[in-house]
Amino acid sequence: MAESEESPTTHPERGKTIHGEAANAGHRVLAPDDAEVEAYLETALKAPAPDRSPEDRPTPPDTVAVLDFGGQFAQLIARRVRELDVYSELLPHDTPLEELERRGTRAIILSGGPMSVYDEDAPKPDPAIWAGRVPVLGICYGAQLMAHELGGDVLPADRREYGPASVSITGGDGLFAGMERDQPVWMSHGDSITRLPEGFSATAQTDSTPFAGLQDPARNLYGIQFHPEVVHTPRGRDVLRNFVERIAGIEPSWTAANFIDTTVAAIRARVDDHARATGSDGKVICALSGGVDSAVAAALVHRAVGDRLTCIYVDHGLMRKKESELLRVTFGEHLGMHLVMVDAHERFLARLAGVEDPEQKRRIIGDEFIRVFEEEAEKIGAIDFLTQGTLYPDVIESATAETKAAQKIKTHHNVGGLPADLRFQLIEPLRYLFKDEVRKVGLELGLPEAMVLRQPFPGPGLAIRIIGEVTAERLDTLREADWIVIDEIKGAGLYRSLWQSFAILTPVRSVGVMGDGRTYANVVAVRAVTSEDGMTADWAKLPYDVLGKISSRIVNEVPGVNRVVYDISSKPPATIEWE
Ligand code: XMP
Repeated sequence: MAESEESPTTHPERGKTIHGEAANAGHRVLAPDDAEVEAYLETALKAPAPDRSPEDRPTPPDTVAVLDFGGQFAQLIARRVRELDVYSELLPHDTPLEELERRGTRAIILSGGPMSVYDEDAPKPDPAIWAGRVPVLGICYGAQLMAHELGGDVLPADRREYGPASVSITGGDGLFAGMERDQPVWMSHGDSITRLPEGFSATAQTDSTPFAGLQDPARNLYGIQFHPEVVHTPRGRDVLRNFVERIAGIEPSWTAANFIDTTVAAIRARVDDHARATGSDGKVICALSGGVDSAVAAALVHRAVGDRLTCIYVDHGLMRKKESELLRVTFGEHLGMHLVMVDAHERFLARLAGVEDPEQKRRIIGDEFIRVFEEEAEKIGAIDFLTQGTLYPDVIESATAETKAAQKIKTHHNVGGLPADLRFQLIEPLRYLFKDEVRKVGLELGLPEAMVLRQPFPGPGLAIRIIGEVTAERLDTLREADWIVIDEIKGAGLYRSLWQSFAILTPVRSVGVMGDGRTYANVVAVRAVTSEDGMTADWAKLPYDVLGKISSRIVNEVPGVNRVVYDISSKPPATIEWE
């Protein structure tokens, strides 16, 4: 075992219940809000599965390729490199050097991985990468591979090294330039390098291994046994920076502004070429959900093609207070975008009347979304492109979140016999970005912080936060209570540290006293959680005074509510949403 599957966080089995099932299994569409609404539009347009052509890829600046050997931190390495303003992508471990060079690779990082170099099916890279044409940094399993493949020895260590450790740097140039001799680092390995290949020297050691760092500068090869990408290695960022900037000589140029320039030019050229070749108008459409990704994707495409883009926003009446207004002002007024806002709240409410079952609510909302999109798409006429806010983590999963969501929705709606030929093409301007990069691009594009730095919100909206029947009156009650929760959380400076914070309208009524009279009114629950990805979550330990203020404001300001409770359940076993 080169890398333990244990995580440095407190979630040993991320995304799994204690029984080992996916935490969301069979329960609901596992999709962020944007992906879900986009999937509805896709279904309404009867789109086949997305066809991602490699030509669509932007010409990247100098790239750091992270070869993925299955380590749990592989994606994190690419993110850390990008935080240095250098473009990095995660590629299969056996990507040929020729292909890497074709993709603009100027440095290669070998990730960690769960295998041992002696395993029969141990994953290996193209041996051509050892020749020194492109600098290589091996991390953990990657370093062991480097030693093993080039003639050194790797053996199971006497004791597994897992967790914090201290390394002593013995080779202070190269990877460790500018760093003090003793460094706290994060280790996670069972095998150890016991003899270096010819030409290599040791650059760092720990109590349990003399070869925690190794290098052969003549061949541009570097290795470290510890993980520079995790926060538990405080100077890890400097190690990566030394590799990327000093050793590989890559200039930091992957910035939001550069990304916007090249992406906008590429989208414009693509739509223009298509319009010329087909004699079409080059019409592009995009579904806005109110979420970050679709907002940023739309703003980018709008900058590229202006009025040829139409955005469709379906107001199902289940949005939070002032939400639709924010969209109208931002996209319609400020950006001058061609925005179709469909006020469909009566249709949705009528279909939800009397419905209490959560999954039935979801099905009705999804179905009605598709009908509305179908009607709107018909009005727009021939469509050449569909814009979606697909992100990089979705793309590098073999089946993307959107595909999964679309498939699920499609099976729900029995959309059969989809045409095999693409009736329109996809524009996915964010498919090379991580979420934090999307936010930076959004801010750089001038989108308001209230839109870019927001918490996730489910596609079915407040309908799944009203337990029991959804009525216009109950929606108003919840909207007011929810507004107070967000207002107080923001006022306390906590909004961005929370994954989500919101109110739930329970079906419970309780007795209270107000003034001289007894009341018998609604109970509102408050939910605030911290999470990394929504798959697992902890209830947030909000300060009592914040909770107190939320409670008294809701009871005083929202008619029909006389009691507030705080949800102290974690996920699993609870979910974040109540329905
Ligand atoms: P749960 O409640 O399953 O939620 O812990 C995990 C994350 O997913 C969001 N969520 C949804 N998003 N449609 C969506 O677009 C849905 O039906 C849906 N249900 C839950 C939830 O807000 C949380 O971020």
